[in-house]
Amino acid sequence: MRSTDWSRRLTAETTLSCNDLIWAIVLKDGKALREPINAMPGVFRLSPDEAVNAAIEARDLGIPALALFPYTEKSARTADGEEAFNPDNLMCRAARAIKKEVPEIGLMADVALDPYTDHGHDGLLKDGVILNDETVEILVKQAVVEAAAGFDIVAPSDMMDGRVGAIRQGLDKAGYENVQIMAYAAKYASAFYGPYREAIGSAGVLQGDKRTYQMDPANTDEALREVGLDLAEGADCVMVKPGMPYLDIVRRVKEEFAAPTFVFQVSGEYAMIKAASANGWLDETRAMMESLMAFKRAGANGIITYFAADAARVLRIGD
Ligand code: PBG
Repeated sequence: MRSTDWSRRLTAETTLSCNDLIWAIVLKDGKALREPINAMPGVFRLSPDEAVNAAIEARDLGIPALALFPYTEKSARTADGEEAFNPDNLMCRAARAIKKEVPEIGLMADVALDPYTDHGHDGLLKDGVILNDETVEILVKQAVVEAAAGFDIVAPSDMMDGRVGAIRQGLDKAGYENVQIMAYAAKYASAFYGPYREAIGSAGVLQGDKRTYQMDPANTDEALREVGLDLAEGADCVMVKPGMPYLDIVRRVKEEFAAPTFVFQVSGEYAMIKAASANGWLDETRAMMESLMAFKRAGANGIITYFAADAARVLRIGD
């Protein structure tokens, strides 16, 4: 069955297509800016006008959606991260610019305070402790502002308890019943987020770690409880993050809940493939495509990845 290409194609159990990809994009204020990120070769911080170009490229490649993440200078951060719900913040300006030029593309926004706080945490911090309920109130404001700017999916990535239900209520009350919630439901306290922290300007900022609210990599039953809670609170779809070290979680979540399940191939996974390829130790294209196929095989419906455009170009060759 494996000896010819036609037979391998005929018997493949899993398929990967451009429709499975959400392209992760980092924003930075400015004009005509494409600023390299040291630990993520090939990924650039894009000014809103460049993000519009990326959206056009994504549309032309058949990528359904973009996920945007904002870089914030240390000097622009505050203890409570109020910029998160400024209707004119970088995320909102970029979303409006993209929706004006490319209204048919899906846009997803993180809901979390880490790009805006001067301590780099996803929530409010008091005497070294994250304040769950006070944070949730701010997250609701952030989600409503993002919806108003044109984001189609809000994705709480903060791991506070009760935030999905509160955000759903807040969105509905503000008239955004059709804005979707993708819950970062099983999000682990992971070393693989390292390059992302550089990308958004949190690297030298983050005090301590996020182990008091993100999940312990030792746990899998807990992931099912987290997913169950988020779905019960009104999440439309759920995410497992990071990706490749957590394929067992993707599989369990998909089997247990049969809900739309996404996986985030995070910055560190991207960086590993890039670095090994740059050294000639891996074939970059093959490693990229194999990693994406593995997510699909594990049960993911879609993948948030910095590789989306590169992978879509490979996938389209056969068109
Ligand atoms: C913020 C957030 C993180 C990522 C997405 N949203 C980092 C973190 O929780 O510290 C990681 C993305 C990546 O590594 O590519 N809540």
